[in-house]
Amino acid sequence: MTTSDVVLAAQKISKRYGNVQALDRVDLAVPAGTVHCLVGENGSGKSTLTKIFAGVEQPDSGTLVLGGSPPVPGVSTRTSVDAGIRVIYQDLALFPNLSVAENLLPPSGSGLLRWRRPRAGLDTVHAALDRVGLAVDPSRLVEELSVAERQLVAIARSISSESRIILMDEPTAALTQDEIDRLLELISDLRSTGLAFMFITHKMREIAEVADEVTILRNGLVAASGPAPDFDADRITTLMTGGIVERGRRSPAPAPSTTPVLELRAGSLAGRFTDVDLSVHAGRVVGLAGILGSGRAEIGLALAGLLPLDAGQILVRGVPVRHPRQLRRLQYVPEDRLSEGLLLDWSVGHNIVLNDLPEATNRFGLLRPSLIRAIARRWRATLNIKVDDVDDAVSTLSGGNQQRVLLARALAPEPEAIILSNPTVGVDVGSRAELHELIRSTADRGMAVLAISDEPAELLDICDEIVVVRRGRVAGRWPVTALDEETIWSTITDEDVPTWAN
Ligand SMILES: Nc1ncnc2c1ncn2[C@@H]1O[C@H](COP(=O)(O)OP(=O)(O)OP(=O)(O)O)[C@@H](O)[C@H]1O
Ligand SMILES: [Mg+2]
Repeated sequence: MTTSDVVLAAQKISKRYGNVQALDRVDLAVPAGTVHCLVGENGSGKSTLTKIFAGVEQPDSGTLVLGGSPPVPGVSTRTSVDAGIRVIYQDLALFPNLSVAENLLPPSGSGLLRWRRPRAGLDTVHAALDRVGLAVDPSRLVEELSVAERQLVAIARSISSESRIILMDEPTAALTQDEIDRLLELISDLRSTGLAFMFITHKMREIAEVADEVTILRNGLVAASGPAPDFDADRITTLMTGGIVERGRRSPAPAPSTTPVLELRAGSLAGRFTDVDLSVHAGRVVGLAGILGSGRAEIGLALAGLLPLDAGQILVRGVPVRHPRQLRRLQYVPEDRLSEGLLLDWSVGHNIVLNDLPEATNRFGLLRPSLIRAIARRWRATLNIKVDDVDDAVSTLSGGNQQRVLLARALAPEPEAIILSNPTVGVDVGSRAELHELIRSTADRGMAVLAISDEPAELLDICDEIVVVRRGRVAGRWPVTALDEETIWSTITDEDVPTWAN
């Protein structure tokens, strides 16, 4: 490799926010036609580096090298784009109220002009969608698409003849296994045409599959860097965390005898799910597995009282729910923390107490900042939330730490039952094990937990029982002791079992 092969490099890049050294003299170089995986714990600086390459943030010191140009102390967004750098941010930057086509067409003067010549653009749009294998009507609004479809639109948008490197910040967090496989294949194809990638992920399998080079960040420092074959999952985890992570299964809870805390009886919702029975007892974790579109998400929403049923019943402690108030001791944790979850401009503290306001108010019903802080600090410790000051806005937290805030908010009111949708999206490998442990111990203290996930491995870690839904119907249910990943996969998809080990 000659230096002219390098499409993008960081040299001794540092960046500080207040008391946090987000990046500390980071070196990294990505040659054309290669995939560079950037890994590290939540808050280790991955997104910050991406933003510096994109010109969204400026480094405090160090230099950047773009293509064959001389080193510069930082770039503007314009320079970055002109150098062929395309970024897919962790928090998708699409325009939800524009159509798929509008998001995909290159910005060409004013928005009005763009629609004067829609035909010319439409071929481009179809070609771009074809490349990522997405079959949606280009006139649909992006806000109507699933998270996975949006992700693919973002990827389609970033692939053009002018792009030289695509920086992807956790592009697979919201994708299902099939979609991930398709994306990884796409990346391999594009790599052979000379395009380079910097790929951020927490999933070891993806690193093993696509990486040519790996860089591991730890507290803003490069902990290690080198050719991918030099690293396996254990070594990466050790370098990320500075220790070894134990993976444990839940020791099964005693068989339930009492009335379930939360129950769905013969629940149906037209076009979504049919005749579903589900019960969650105190002290138990029930997993709901299924692919995107299987009905798993809607079942969770219906149980939380957020979607109406067409038929069937929800019962709380055996009593049919006729009023939302009966669900007040239930918490629902959405998967999409940005659009459904957090108030990004609000402080970490306010976000945490949001569902537990009585705890944080004085006897006159006024919110007490000192109480909010105390509660927030407690949860910061319990969930290991990386934030200096709980008065800081949630928007300044790294993705994985925002996810923890969402979890803290649901746990703070000590609900009777909790519904978790992909609870560890974007959480690093080491902390995933910690959060799993926390979910298990929460159940051990008597909470009823329903965990929805498209990762069988995650469900096997935390559940007592797993229910699989396929095309809106229950396709199987097992105690976790009688299950392995392959069985779940084959039931979820009704297809051949994928053969990787996780
Ligand atoms: N605008 C900001 N203001 C203050 N602190 C910030 C800001 N942006 C990032 N940080 C801090 O810098 C550190 C690195 O954050 P970054 O988002 O780069 O982490 P990450 O490696 O992408 O983590 P994750 O895997 O959770 O997404 C974190 O401690 C974060 O809180
Ligand atoms: Mg990040």
